[in-house]
Amino acid sequence: MAINEAKLNEFMGQFVGDIGAVMHALEGVENRLKTGALVADVGCGHGASTLIMAKAYPEARITGFDYHEPSIAHARKAAEEAGLGERVAFEVARAQDYPGKDYDFVAVFDCLHDMGDPVGAAAHVRKSLKPDGTWMIVEPFANDRLEDNLNPIGRIFYSASTFICTPASRSQEVGACLGAQAGEARIREVVTSGGFTRFRRATETPFNLVLEAKP
Ligand SMILES: C[S@@+](CC[C@H](N)C(=O)[O-])C[C@H]1O[C@@H](n2cnc3c(N)ncnc32)[C@H](O)[C@@H]1O
Repeated sequence: MAINEAKLNEFMGQFVGDIGAVMHALEGVENRLKTGALVADVGCGHGASTLIMAKAYPEARITGFDYHEPSIAHARKAAEEAGLGERVAFEVARAQDYPGKDYDFVAVFDCLHDMGDPVGAAAHVRKSLKPDGTWMIVEPFANDRLEDNLNPIGRIFYSASTFICTPASRSQEVGACLGAQAGEARIREVVTSGGFTRFRRATETPFNLVLEAKP
């Protein structure tokens, strides 16, 4: 099925919320993005989140990574079509060992829970960041207790998670299967197991938790 990239980006924009407001909620990130930050968008898929950041922050040097080669091919094409081909790069790489170091900012949009080895990914993000860098984890909104997620949005997320996210994680080494309703407490365990010492909920939207981790 052909995907209309403009529609996908529009949809992602609504899902993520106002990207400026999200970045503003993170400590010191917005300024860095405006003045040439080195950025990795890990698990970037078709590059929608990467292109949204590139449009909002023209000075940022952004690379999108995903382990799924056809997604990266799609992302490259979308960047060209959006006239952003010179400003963003896309590479096939896993979250556990993508290239580059001294990143100012690493983003994972709606994908940490899809990964087989999210702790391995967290440890690698920590290694790839500058000592004062920031890791932003955007995850589907979820409370920590199952019974607190049995609302219409949570039910949809649990269903999608059963058919999409959990099998994706199970197919990879470790197979942690966090699921799309992992919640902040479970994500905190993953992030601190990866070596991060600071973790907080920076903000939230009706659909997303925006979590901030620092080395
Ligand atoms: C739900 S999609 C999100 C894509 C994109 N971040 C977005 O918000 O549009 C999850 C993505 O995580 C990627 N992914 C899953 N496990 C991965 C891993 N171990 N390393 C890199 N990417 C991974 C998948 O290929 C998929 O593109």
